[in-house]
Amino acid sequence: MNRRRGAAVAIACLFALFAWGQSPPPQQPAAQAQAQSGANPVQATNDAFVQKILKEIAGREQEPAEKVFRNVQIMKTTPAARFLTIMNLGYSRALGVTCTHCHVEQDFSSDDKRPKRAAREMAVMHRGINDQLAKMQNLDPDPQGHFINCSTCHRGAVDPLQSER
Ligand code: HEC
Ligand code: HEC
Repeated sequence: MNRRRGAAVAIACLFALFAWGQSPPPQQPAAQAQAQSGANPVQATNDAFVQKILKEIAGREQEPAEKVFRNVQIMKTTPAARFLTIMNLGYSRALGVTCTHCHVEQDFSSDDKRPKRAAREMAVMHRGINDQLAKMQNLDPDPQGHFINCSTCHRGAVDPLQSER
């Protein structure tokens, strides 16, 4: 397993924890993000966006995303801080992009960029696949359940067919 693949798997696991609504191991995401941002300009850019937004929402980090932000249609009840972690270590890292691949820099609530609208459709697909997985009868039982996330397909690339496997 090479380093990049290892990181992708680690992130997939982390994201799975978030997706499942459990607490991540304390400090790990921040520590990992910090460790990697030095070597990775995309990650450093994304961390900076998250830090800026965290300052703007200070004191409201645990409130539901739909109350803290202006245009949340899917992850409505996710606490705002965790929502940002999913944006950063889930969505952005899965695709290997910065926030502005999907977002208009001056207004993150805008749906003007096609990739943001595509990401909502992807979120619905991802949920549908997980619902189907949960109904399967013949998988090796796993107490954690069986699931996929954005990284399962994307693995660091916008187009999964171009990603490193
Ligand atoms: C792959 C596309 C994609 C990337 C990359 C992405 N986002 Fe998002 N973002 C979305 C989608 C889709 C929503 C709406 C989610 C929903 O409706 O539940 C969203 C919503 C948001 C919102 C709520 C804005 C509002 O006021 O409604 C914030 C804040 C946000 N993202 C921050 C970030 C940050 C910070 C990054 C980079 C670390 C990032 N996003 C990267 C797709 C993306
Ligand atoms: C089952 C596999 C699969 C999963 C899971 C998946 N995607 Fe995708 N995604 C694709 C494929 C295939 C494309 C089309 C790539 C292409 O041809 O450009 C795509 C395209 C996209 C695009 C359009 C990118 C662009 O700039 O045109 C976005 C954004 C995206 N996915 C976000 C996500 C997000 C966010 C998640 C997790 C919620 C996710 N995807 C999960 C397979 C997947």
